Amino acid sequence: MPARNESQWRATPPLQEGEWIDSRIYSDREIFEEENEKIFKHVWVPVCHESELPKPYDFRTTSIGREPVIICRGPDNQIRAFLNVCPHRGMLIERRPSGSFLEGQPSGNPTRITCMFHAWQFDLKGNCVYVAREKEGYQDRLCKENVGLRRLRCEVKFGGFVWVNLDDNPSVSLEDWASKPFQCLRQTLEEEPLEVFHYHKAVIGTNYKLWHDTNSEFYHDFMHYHNRVTGFNDAYFARKNEAFDHGHVVVGTFEVNYANYEGFESRAELSFPHLPPNQWYMIDLFPGFNFNLRGSALRVDVVTPLGPDEVMIEFRGLGLKSDTPEERMTRINHHNSIWGPFGRNLHEDLIGVAGQGTTMRPGTEPRNILHGRQENQTIHDENGMRHYYDEWGRWMNRSPREPDKAYSPSQAVAAE
Ligand code: FES
Ligand SMILES: [Fe+2]
Repeated sequence: MPARNESQWRATPPLQEGEWIDSRIYSDREIFEEENEKIFKHVWVPVCHESELPKPYDFRTTSIGREPVIICRGPDNQIRAFLNVCPHRGMLIERRPSGSFLEGQPSGNPTRITCMFHAWQFDLKGNCVYVAREKEGYQDRLCKENVGLRRLRCEVKFGGFVWVNLDDNPSVSLEDWASKPFQCLRQTLEEEPLEVFHYHKAVIGTNYKLWHDTNSEFYHDFMHYHNRVTGFNDAYFARKNEAFDHGHVVVGTFEVNYANYEGFESRAELSFPHLPPNQWYMIDLFPGFNFNLRGSALRVDVVTPLGPDEVMIEFRGLGLKSDTPEERMTRINHHNSIWGPFGRNLHEDLIGVAGQGTTMRPGTEPRNILHGRQENQTIHDENGMRHYYDEWGRWMNRSPREPDKAYSPSQAVAAE
């Protein structure tokens, strides 16, 4: 068929329902706002890892959707999360990305979370413990007991990750939300403590769901020279792409032949516990959090949508806390040579999704995005995306194919 005219270009593709979606879900401002309300305010988000707050009074700040969040370790060693918003007049209480409350800041007391604006102070459980000139200003009308921080649901699970949910009454417990996809790696991640050794973030001009998509399909391994030469054998093509409840997907493992890539060696010696050498598992959680274990190093991606065509992606690399300095150096090398900012693969993925973002700016003409590959739910099957967009449709009550219409379960997904 020659190149198509406009009506041919826009015509319904000759695929089953559920095998394509409308590009407006990646570019429409109204849909983006609705995703913040309907999805990001209600899902479990792996905001960081416990090893990033190793000591009492350590903290980190982040955000879920647009809501600023502070995570801290109390003197009782418990990790808690609060909105990083002062109950007085809404100042962002802590502006540093991370640090410790053990020592006082120029405008803050030791062991307290202090808002620099008018010096209100909070303890590490979120209680307000000091209101400047309380009696003079409020007499007996308002006291510090009434103005604690907004606490958030927070659990440490699945290998020491800190999970926060903005919803006080989430529809599903964290265990029920993610235990099935984590089953393949739970023993491995929980055998001994893990530690973050790498962090960087990227702000990319694309929709956050496109980052999910590239993590959930491996058909794009044609773009990754490294993956082609270290994989692309029978075991690679037999890898299962398995869908789980709540929109999650797991890509099963095989043995990567690192030595096939010039300058690389087997990573068997530093394999995570309970794994045969050089395995590669991938867990993709709705709506876009990714746990990627390549034998000796774990990479975790967390997305924060900044706009319909902008996403912040935080990348963490983790190893075993018990590493010797030498082992750690090797593990960092394994991680960075593939996934560091100058590694072999990660920037290729970023170029891919940035290119999609360029063609799907708000206001661009809608077009069909095809998710129709069917290969017995193996690695190049696109069932991960079909499954994900079915879940997305449910949360949003919109059809991913016709976003102006209400959701109805897709036949293609139901058949899988
Ligand atoms: S806004 Fe925080 S003390 Fe006033
Ligand atoms: Fe990739």
